[in-house]
Amino acid sequence: MSDISVLMTSVGAYLPKKILTNEDLSAFVDTDDEWIRQRTGITQRHIVADGELTSDMAREAALQALQRVGLDGVDIDLIIVATTTPDDTFPSTAAKLQHQLGAVYAVAFDVQAVCAGFVYALDIADAMLRSGRGKRALVIGAESFSKLLDWQDRSTCVLFGDGAGAVILERDEYAVEWGIRSSILHTDGAHRDILYVDGGPSSSSAVGHVRMEGNKVFRHAVEKLSSAMDEALAAANMTVSDVDWLVPHQANIRIIDGMQKKMQLPTDRVVRTVDKHANTSAASIPLALSVAVGDGRIKNGEVVAFEAIGGGLVWGATLVKYGRPQK
Ligand code: UT7
Repeated sequence: MSDISVLMTSVGAYLPKKILTNEDLSAFVDTDDEWIRQRTGITQRHIVADGELTSDMAREAALQALQRVGLDGVDIDLIIVATTTPDDTFPSTAAKLQHQLGAVYAVAFDVQAVCAGFVYALDIADAMLRSGRGKRALVIGAESFSKLLDWQDRSTCVLFGDGAGAVILERDEYAVEWGIRSSILHTDGAHRDILYVDGGPSSSSAVGHVRMEGNKVFRHAVEKLSSAMDEALAAANMTVSDVDWLVPHQANIRIIDGMQKKMQLPTDRVVRTVDKHANTSAASIPLALSVAVGDGRIKNGEVVAFEAIGGGLVWGATLVKYGRPQK
């Protein structure tokens, strides 16, 4: 990578007020708290209120990220929203947000890579800022995943939740070796049938529902994520000992623990929010990052590793030296 750095200088998050516990779920689907906790680590999830949109959550997360560093929409050149649950088929949720934030100079578009959407969007924003197309970007993961669930299907409906997280990226010519240090993305469309939505504008008139062969996805997860992480470490000329924090996609506590063991990281260096947030798809990493920056665990200058896998299959890993050099 060039001497130009793309810093990650702020984070914000939003979770809907309504909480659905495992007990709440077991009142209308054949499941129980013990199964969900043991197999996934999830105890509750947040669910959007009637009329609450993906763009509403994205806006709240973006505003928090902007406010934390004293910026306004007008300071932003690029907005990428990673989402599989846009408000409408078009225009993009990002275009709607651009107007709502008064980001009149920003180019805005959505990226669809399901649960890997945030790491995909980070890679695109990094490349665009690095190549000179703007100074500051808002990268947002926002999902109303509850809208894609078949609430009769216990094998999927217990796993997901809604929410949004946002980060600000800033191009910097002087902060050598800060910010996004490496980014690795992969796709293998051959695995389409183990995780997909059975609807969409060209294949059907309905939005459709999530269909997943969870144990098959599970078998791909740790192997693909750890190999992407190895590639990201090599690309950044780092080893695991340089990593201060793993902020993984929050799909299942067993996958997260598997990654911790593979990377041989101490337990307390892994940020876990799956218990409270469940799997919020593209929002899960920035939501978890926001929690750990907010409670003071992740500090300025620490190296954070992200990884995620989702339907496609799509997966990737990113290494970031968080924050900015202090003057
Ligand atoms: O973020 C996108 C990527 N997605 C993932 O990473 C998800 C990866 N997969 C997983 O997290 C896990 O595979 C699941 C949590 C989805 C499932 O866990 P599992 O240990 O792989 O369970 P399984 O699918 O093999 O099912 C085991 C049993 C089955 O019963 P039988 O056939 O053994 O009698 C299921 O019918 O558990 C049953 N089951 C449930 N029981 C109670 C499935 N869902 C439930 C449920 N409550 N909600």
